[in-house]
Amino acid sequence: MGPGPSLTYPEVYEAMARPTLGHLDPYFIEIMDGIKEMLQAVFRTKHSLTIPVSGTGSAGMETVLVNLIEPGDPVLIIINGVFGKRQLDIAQRLGAEADALEFTWGKPVDPDTVAQSLKNRKYKIVSMVHAETSTGVCNPAEEVGELVASRGDGAFYLLDTVTSLGGMEVDVDGWKVDAVYSGTQKCLSCPPGLAPVSFSQRAVDSIMNRRTKVPNWYLDMSMVANYWAGKKRAYHHTAPINMLYGLYQALYLVLDEGLEKVYRRHTRAHEHLVEGLEKLGMSMVVEPPYRLPMLNAVRIPEGIDDAEARKRLRYEHNIEIGGGLGDFAGKVWRIGLMGNTARPEHVDRLLKALKAII
Ligand SMILES: Cc1ncc(COP(=O)(O)O)c(C=O)c1O
Repeated sequence: MGPGPSLTYPEVYEAMARPTLGHLDPYFIEIMDGIKEMLQAVFRTKHSLTIPVSGTGSAGMETVLVNLIEPGDPVLIIINGVFGKRQLDIAQRLGAEADALEFTWGKPVDPDTVAQSLKNRKYKIVSMVHAETSTGVCNPAEEVGELVASRGDGAFYLLDTVTSLGGMEVDVDGWKVDAVYSGTQKCLSCPPGLAPVSFSQRAVDSIMNRRTKVPNWYLDMSMVANYWAGKKRAYHHTAPINMLYGLYQALYLVLDEGLEKVYRRHTRAHEHLVEGLEKLGMSMVVEPPYRLPMLNAVRIPEGIDDAEARKRLRYEHNIEIGGGLGDFAGKVWRIGLMGNTARPEHVDRLLKALKAII
């Protein structure tokens, strides 16, 4: 019940234990095609370059930035937590002229302030985190997408959906997102190890027409795409076969339950948790309309030792929750209700344990 990894589905473990096929085996290629199709459904996109990158969520972040940024590109990074800062770090390493637009941690991004920044400078890329795992805030992904598109100056909109994908609405096409990435270990309830990404045709065209080579061989989409698409699949790197079995199964389970039902299950578990925490006298960090269902940031009660309480939860009750990150370290707990973890019985068990400890 921390900020990820979540409880892996038993069926995903089973899938991962199946015999390892060759990475160009025709049956494995069928599995890859199934994954692409299911990822399009979960991301709600028709983008044909929709694939899992080998690596965790950070590999997804690095993939979208390293493929779209060239040295000197003007980039706007919208930041209200740890993961926005990480995007800025990567953009700066790539030689972008990166402007950071910072908001208070625990509060959502304000679209009016974003609109003002977009008037002040023409950007090639505007990037934001949808679900800020460090604070539990949901950012206005749709509004910012609308703002970027309405400028009409061709800027690319990049979105981090590592924590939101599979747990709440993500609508890549509807929100006009050009490059999006996620991870397997949160609401998809698959172990960490893959990073689903998706690029619009406009973004793909820009990658194919770069002035400079993508400065990262492993994550260069112009080469990786040849393994994932087309009639003749070309070797790039050996795919993590069994991880991909796991992702196939996880996506299958999410779509079999139905996206709307899955989102509702997350919302219900979140409401049940908040009600219970408030009964225990605890207060949430984020205002209700901006709370993420899958990442609940709660203030640590006065007089409770953060590390000691989490240690007792782990060893006496077998439950893991997360501590605060960055500015929130020592002040906040982060309780994950992600994917297979988002169930009332898990919430009840945690509330009972917290009551005993407090
Ligand atoms: C919003 C967000 N972005 C990126 C990442 C990085 O993902 P990973 O730790 O899987 O590399 C995380 C991880 O928690 C995250 O929550």
